[in-house]
Amino acid sequence: MSLSPSISPDARPITDTDTAPGTGTAPALGTAPDAGTGTVTASPATAPGPPPPSAGDTRAPLTPGTLRTLVRDLAERPEEWIHHVRLSTEERWYRRLAADEDHEVWLISWLPGQSTGFHDHGGSRGAFTVALGELEELSLGGPDQGLLIRRVPAGTARAFGPEYVHDVRNTAVGPAVTLHAYSPPLSSMAHYDLRAGGLVRTSEEGPEQW
Ligand SMILES: [Fe+2]
Repeated sequence: MSLSPSISPDARPITDTDTAPGTGTAPALGTAPDAGTGTVTASPATAPGPPPPSAGDTRAPLTPGTLRTLVRDLAERPEEWIHHVRLSTEERWYRRLAADEDHEVWLISWLPGQSTGFHDHGGSRGAFTVALGELEELSLGGPDQGLLIRRVPAGTARAFGPEYVHDVRNTAVGPAVTLHAYSPPLSSMAHYDLRAGGLVRTSEEGPEQW
């Protein structure tokens, strides 16, 4: 799910880094969500979710907290996704595990050095958890806080609101596998350059590109 005026991203996630129970081998977004290229297929039965909306349904998007719970719970059921995982030396690999009208779930793998660059999520709320390995997340903490760098080790999750902008990267020595959920499903993603004056929107991509 990873546009040129300067922006002031909401760099305050709804929830902070959050340690999941157990160790890091339970099993998180992209550009596909947080990925760049890869195979995108839908298998709606893979991840949990509410029933399809009825005609005229105007439900609000799922909250970041709900999305966090979704990815953490899915991470604890590796039998539902581990067999899909692939690694790509070219770019992050990703696959959409599930999609309905109010949310979607993505599986992403990251080799050392692979990253998203700064990006938003087109107004979607989101969450991701690291199932295997470890990632690093960069975001702007506001006018007085500057650049924030967080370790996101296996077993932890991040959740964020619709204005969130971040850069996620694998700076570790081994691969990482993550699970991501977005609500509503990603409709676009803008990319940004971090410059002296802040983030500058540089491009945008849509679902046809992932
Ligand atoms: Fe992202």
